[in-house]
Amino acid sequence: MTSGEDLRAVMRFVPHNVAVLAVDHDGDRMGVTISSLVSLSLEPPLVSISVGKQASLYELLRHAGAFSVSLLGGEQEEIALRFAAGRPPIVHWEGVDIREGQFAPLIDGALGWIEARTSAEHDAGDHTLFIADVVSVERGPAQSALMYRDRSYHPL
Ligand SMILES: Cc1cc2nc3c(=O)[nH]c(=O)nc-3n(C[C@H](O)[C@H](O)[C@H](O)COP(=O)(O)O)c2cc1C
Repeated sequence: MTSGEDLRAVMRFVPHNVAVLAVDHDGDRMGVTISSLVSLSLEPPLVSISVGKQASLYELLRHAGAFSVSLLGGEQEEIALRFAAGRPPIVHWEGVDIREGQFAPLIDGALGWIEARTSAEHDAGDHTLFIADVVSVERGPAQSALMYRDRSYHPL
């Protein structure tokens, strides 16, 4: 039997996209850095995200039933670090340039934005896979994408 650490030891060398998942439930808003965004289907447009059951925003995400994703641009490493740092939610958005999306804040200057309504939740070990109907998609101004590989960020 292999372990999660064995899986991580290989997968860390695969470049992953980096995004900030944001949720807002009755004005309670949180964000977290994710690399699990997948474009699942085009007809209908569906995305999935995988979120750890221990993540601070996990319950908020389930209750909100919808979320926004800001796909980070190559110059947005600081944003990725901030939302991965496990800070108290109250300081998540301090000093971050955002605009209001339909469901949750969208981070300015990103590569693009996706807003989606959760349609299914699948238990996946220590994570839950959320499948969601895409409600809006927009291309942002960033010219390069922020990628994560071997514990560091790279513009591509
Ligand atoms: C590049 C990168 C990608 C990540 N991707 C995910 C992800 O897809 N899903 C997830 O639940 N956590 C992911 N994390 C971990 C969260 O960003 C965060 O560190 C973790 O949830 C702990 O913070 P919290 O206590 O605020 O939840 C990722 C972290 C990094 C640095």
